[in-house]
This record gives sequence, structure tokens and C-alpha cells, in this order.
Amino acid sequence: MVDFSDGPHPGGFAAPMRYDAEILDCEVEGTIPPELDGVFVRTGPDWYYPQLYPNDVPFSADGYTSTFRIKNGRAAYRGRFVRTPRFVNNLEAGRQLYGVYRNPFTDDPSIQEETMEKPWERTVANTTPMAFAGKLFALKEDAPPIELDPNTLETRGFYDFGGKLSSQTHTAHPKPDPVTGDLWTFGYEATGLCTDDVYFYCFGPDGSLKHEIRVKTPYVSMMHDLIITNEHIVIPVFSYIATMERLKAGLAHWGWDPSLPGYFGVMRRDGDGSDLKWYDAPSGTTIIHTLNGHSSGDRLVMEAPQFDNNPFPFFPAVHAQTGDMGPIGRSHLRRFTFDLNGDSFATEQVFDDPISDLVRVDDRYLTQEHRYCYTQYTEPGVQDRGSGWIRLDVQTGEKAVWYAGPGQALQEVSMVPRSADAAEGDGWLIGVANNPAEMRSEFVIVDAVEMQEVARVILPFRSSAQVHARWFNAAELPEMV
Ligand SMILES: [Fe+2]
Repeated sequence: MVDFSDGPHPGGFAAPMRYDAEILDCEVEGTIPPELDGVFVRTGPDWYYPQLYPNDVPFSADGYTSTFRIKNGRAAYRGRFVRTPRFVNNLEAGRQLYGVYRNPFTDDPSIQEETMEKPWERTVANTTPMAFAGKLFALKEDAPPIELDPNTLETRGFYDFGGKLSSQTHTAHPKPDPVTGDLWTFGYEATGLCTDDVYFYCFGPDGSLKHEIRVKTPYVSMMHDLIITNEHIVIPVFSYIATMERLKAGLAHWGWDPSLPGYFGVMRRDGDGSDLKWYDAPSGTTIIHTLNGHSSGDRLVMEAPQFDNNPFPFFPAVHAQTGDMGPIGRSHLRRFTFDLNGDSFATEQVFDDPISDLVRVDDRYLTQEHRYCYTQYTEPGVQDRGSGWIRLDVQTGEKAVWYAGPGQALQEVSMVPRSADAAEGDGWLIGVANNPAEMRSEFVIVDAVEMQEVARVILPFRSSAQVHARWFNAAELPEMV
């Protein structure tokens, strides 16, 4: 029997589910806009076998990809575990063979020789979906992308961009440049566990490698996301530390160390990395996700949610006296304006209330000036309406909020423009609501102008937990029948 009664596994709505699923024609409430033609892809963690050690973390759960394929007002659902080398080896053994988060020193002896040599084979591919060159991928920042069949979600294996991905790792936050059509991406710990090498890549839409930059960081930190502007790359380096000593001691990859200095690294995206400048930033804070940024003359303006404490209590402080934890997932959206000729930046708070750091823009505005930020938000004092999605005008501070309904919990939102040339803000907000009262997941479509619900796709079961989700239109990921 697979026993989940002990360990860090969530219960209730988020309890491990351990099944693949398919519904060819889902139940729909309301009317799905006929203009919606594409696929909403979700990636998240679900434990197939219990963890090996009690100090393992939720980020180690097996990757599960699910899709809502939308066409002609109808929806089909598929959900499938990613068959990573880890999933396959565990299934063959009938138990968990892999130790704590990103630490092969803790693996079962039967596979440890392999994982010490190829640590990326420990990946669970549970973080973000990516579409590139007509292919679908599941991403996690400790390994190259894993390609999936975009229709059946069957696993095709690791993808190295035709041999051009020299990094051992690949971020879960690649940035499509809507102006050039290129994909900007990177890998940190690029040359092995706890190495300070970061490799950046620009791939053309045909898969060609157009540019590569290699740099080193002041220390090995969790570079989960970055900013690509029309001219520059910004790298946040904050407060988490990974060392081989930690790994040899059996600890999870990251420790929280607020005594470390914080940095923003800024360099030209068309350069060779020799211009990389490190701006001193407050210690004891961290930036996990970013919103967007743009460069103009000698100024670079970017926005990102900033935590003033450790958002991940399962990555505890390296010094016991600095172990204060903040509320998970609540940060403040801040604007950082860099003087590119100087060595400082100005910080201003865009919005006073705490918000989820899963912030999104309309992807057509990545690398450029934007007006709207979308994320999960519940206005202080509002009760019994469930969680909300906010449309925040970052230029005026005006907000509009749609609430999912009592008891419901919304996951990361995506903004889909009504058409390719629609004005910013004109389109739909889409994503999944957890409905614990019915123990089921519901895919919701909200008019982003009216902030009113227009349709829900009802699943008769819980889908997996979600880290990130993305919408890809039918031109990006055509349906094969
Ligand atoms: Fe992320």
C-alpha cells in the first residue's frame, strides 16, 4: 500500500491523486467565447510515491501536466504524469528512490551513481509548461526541458535544442519576445550542482541559436525568474544559498540566509556579458517571480513582487536566529528604476496591498511598457467570496477584482487577448478554480474588461495542484487529429 499518512504531503483537496485522466467533451456552464481556440496547459506537483526523507519539500513531487483544449465553444481535458527518468525508475521499484530536493547525495544507492553523474535526471518537471517551435515542454529549473506530445501528453524525453543547450539546466521562466518572435532563456548552476555559472540563450522561432552569454553570479542563489527588456537582461540574486557542504550534510538544496547581500545584475542582451553590472539591493528580501520591464535611454524600469522575508518555510534559515517566515505567496508589487549610467536604482511600491507573486502581463507586452498586471488577490476585509483575480492598472493604481465564489481558491491567471490586435486589457482571464465543496477543479473564463464570468468547464474530479499555467493559441500548438 502507498501510505501518504506521514510526511509533507498535503491532505484534503490537495491530497495526492495518482491518476491520469481524459474527458473528450467536458461539461460547460455558460458560453465559451468562440474566439478562444487553443490549449491551456497546467503544470504542477503530485506525489506518486511518498518522499524518502521527512525533510523533503513540496517542490519534489512528481510533475503532472494537464490541458484544457478549447475549440468551437467546447473543451476537452487531459491530465498525465510526466514520465521523467525518476518517475519511470520509481515505478519499476514500486517506491521512492530519490532523496531530498536537488540533492543526489541522499538518493537510494541503487540509482545514486547515475544521479551524481547526471543530477538533471532527478528532475520532476513540475513547474511550467512551454511551447516552442510547435513543441510542448514541461519545465523545471534543475534540468533541460522535457518534451511532451501536445495532444496525448505522452513523454518524449529531454530536449536540448538540437544540441545547442550547453547548460545542464534550463529555467522554468523562459521569456518569449513578442517583438522579435525569439525565445530568451537561461540555465543557472549551468556546469553542475552548486556552480555559479549562468548561461543565457536567444533562440529563433525556427529553433536556431541566435545568441549566447555566459556569466558568473556573486553566489549560488535561486534564480527562478529574470527580466528581459527590449535591450537588457536583469538577474535577481537574493538570500537563498546552495553549497556542496549543505548537500553533503543531507539538506535540501536551498537555505535562507538574510545576511547575504542582495543584487540585481544588469547587462545588455546583445552583448557578451562583460558589461554585467551588479546593483546592491536590500538583504533579507527576495524576488521569486518578475512581471516585466523595458529600457529607454539611460533608464531601465521593471516591476516585480518582492518578499520582505522567506516565502518558502520548507527552505529554513541557515542561522536559527533568522528564521522568521512570512506568509507564503504574499508579496508587494514594486517598481525598480535603474540609472544605467550610475550604480543605484529607485524603488517605489506600485500597490499597497499584498498580492500573490504569480503576476502576469498580456504576453504581447513582454519587454515593453505595459499597463495591466493580473494576479490572485483578495481585498482586505472581503469575506466569503473566495479568492479573486485582480486587474491592476500599474499606471493609475486603479483596480478591478473578480471573485471565484465562496470557498473557492483560484490558481495562476493567464490573460488571453480577444484578437491579435486587440487593445491591451481587451480579452479574457482564464485559469483554474479549486472548488473544495464539490471536490472538483473548474476551468474559468472571465471577461477581462467587464470582470464578469462568462463560462466554466466543470471537471468531475480534482485535477493536480498547479505551479504555473500558460495559454497557447492554435497557431502555437495545433491540435493533431
Ligand atoms: Fe515560477
